[in-house]
Amino acid sequence: MPYSAPSSQIRSGVAASVPRKSLESLLREVWSPTQRARSPYSHLHRPGFGQGAGARLAELDGDHFAHTTDPDCPTGAIRSRGYRERVAPTPLHRALTELGPDLRPLPPRAEGLLRELDAPPRLAAHLRAVHDVAHQLLDRLDRDHGDLAADREAVLFGAASHDIGKTIHRQELSGPGSAHEEAGHRILLDHGVEERLARFARTHASWTEPGITIEDLLVSLADKIWKAKRLPDLEQRAVAYLTEASGKAPWQVFRDLDDLLTDIAADADHRLAFQSSYPIS
Ligand SMILES: [Fe+2]
Repeated sequence: MPYSAPSSQIRSGVAASVPRKSLESLLREVWSPTQRARSPYSHLHRPGFGQGAGARLAELDGDHFAHTTDPDCPTGAIRSRGYRERVAPTPLHRALTELGPDLRPLPPRAEGLLRELDAPPRLAAHLRAVHDVAHQLLDRLDRDHGDLAADREAVLFGAASHDIGKTIHRQELSGPGSAHEEAGHRILLDHGVEERLARFARTHASWTEPGITIEDLLVSLADKIWKAKRLPDLEQRAVAYLTEASGKAPWQVFRDLDDLLTDIAADADHRLAFQSSYPIS
C-alpha cells in the first residue's frame, strides 16, 4: 500500500542501485542471511550505505519502509517525489519480537539461528513460550534453592532452541514424531553451537535416559508446563535432584515445586493463544 510520511520521521536508511521492484524481494536482496540473522535492522547501519541515489529502506515508527530516488527508475513521478511503502514485518519477525503475553525475547544467538534457518513462525512462538517458562523456573528455583548449581545459560539456550530440528521436519510441528530431535542436535553443532548448549535438542524428550542432568530436566519441564501438562515421572526426577542438591526434606521440595508448576500453568492459556496465532509455514 503506498504510504507517505515526512522525511524527518525517517530515522535511518540505506541506498542501493536497484530499480523499483517488489519490496519484499528488495528486502531479501539487501539483507544477506547473515545480516538477517544478526538483526532485522543491521543493514540500516552499514557504513557506506545511505549515499547517492537508489532505493532506501528505512525503519519508521517500528515498521519497515522502502523509499526510492533511483534516477533510473522508469516511473518519473515516482522518481521525482520518491515513494514510501509499508512493508509488513514477516510472521517470523513478529513471532520473535512481539511481546505477546509478556514473553521475554530469546537469547540473541538462538534468535539469530531461527532467522537464518527461516524457522516457521509457530516454532519461533513455541520457543518463546518455553524459553519464558524456563526463565520463570530458574528464577523461582534460585529463590527456593539458592545452592542449585544449574547452568542457567544452558537451560535458557536449550529451551530457546530445543525444537530447532522442526525447521527441517516441519510436519512434526502439527503431528507426532521425533526425527527433529537428532536433526536439531546436528543443526546446532553444524552452526558451531557447543555440545553444552546443543544437547537439549536431543534430550528434551528423553529424561529417562542415563546421564540426564538437572539442566535437561528443567528444559523438559519447561517444554511441558508451558501448556500446563503435568508429568509425575518427570517431576519426581526433578524433586529427587533438588532434594539431593538442597538437603531439604523431599516433601518440602515436592510442595515447593508443585506450587511453582501450578503458578506457571495458570498462564498456559495465554501462551497457547500466542503460539497458535502464528502460522505453521
Ligand atoms: Fe517443544
